Amino acid sequence: MNTNFKAVLRKIFLYYEQVTNSKFYHLREQTNGMLLPLVYKKIYQLCLQLPDLDIIEVGGAAGTGSIAIGWSIRDSQKKSKLIVVEKCQGGTRTDVGGYAENLELIQKHFENFGVTEQVRLFPQELTFNNGQEAIALINTQKIAAFIHDADGRIDRDFYLFWPLLQPGGLIIVDDYANEAKFQPISDRHPQGGAKSLLTYRLLNQIIEWGLFQTTYKVGKTIFGIKPHHADFSRFNLKICQKIIADVHKEHSNYLKQHELVLARR
Ligand SMILES: C[S@@+](CC[C@H](N)C(=O)[O-])C[C@H]1O[C@@H](n2cnc3c(N)ncnc32)[C@H](O)[C@@H]1O
Repeated sequence: MNTNFKAVLRKIFLYYEQVTNSKFYHLREQTNGMLLPLVYKKIYQLCLQLPDLDIIEVGGAAGTGSIAIGWSIRDSQKKSKLIVVEKCQGGTRTDVGGYAENLELIQKHFENFGVTEQVRLFPQELTFNNGQEAIALINTQKIAAFIHDADGRIDRDFYLFWPLLQPGGLIIVDDYANEAKFQPISDRHPQGGAKSLLTYRLLNQIIEWGLFQTTYKVGKTIFGIKPHHADFSRFNLKICQKIIADVHKEHSNYLKQHELVLARR
């Protein structure tokens, strides 16, 4: 679809949301949220129904999704917490400033929207190495949900958090789309436009292993559950690494091709 036409459609839809979904429309406006208001509403409604177990979210940005989840914990009078993982620098965060400015902004939003009590922040880049530090913030035996809206490395998040998730627990993944917007890797674009493709291929493999059962899809956000009786021994990090390497290869081939075309002009 033509990008201008897409932008117009989005504007019309946002206007509709302003009228029909004003609570999440205004939350998104005031915190610069990146998902559609209806996605935040869906996250809120699904989290409202979860058992009183901690939740982990990777990719808090300025806190919009985290606030929707925090509200669901507060409104259902649960004692559990949301652990928000946010690296506070690079990528879209450069639009706000450096680490200190981003940390201050997300904390201010948690305060302003009344979820400080419900949220624990892990303000670091999540890696395989420091995953246990994030997990140490979980205070319940199991978790009710995990959410990924970060860098497309869902292999890391499934490896770290899937075993902790209760059977039937909620999994939300953003940027699930078979599309590439390849461009050079930079501080502003650390995945070089490969995030959606990476997410798409990795999640398709995870679905094939029977570790994610899709329940809904809204735009590029996919909702699912941890199937009962799923077998985590099928999860294979080597296969994930091969998928990642293939996407990196396609990315660099595309850039080389593109440079050649430019050089010929
Ligand atoms: C698309 S934004 C998240 C949007 C947010 N969920 C919302 O509701 O507006 C992605 C965020 O993930 C963060 N991020 C990316 N990779 C990360 C990682 N490995 N660890 C922690 N945060 C990460 C980025 O800094 C960025 O703020």
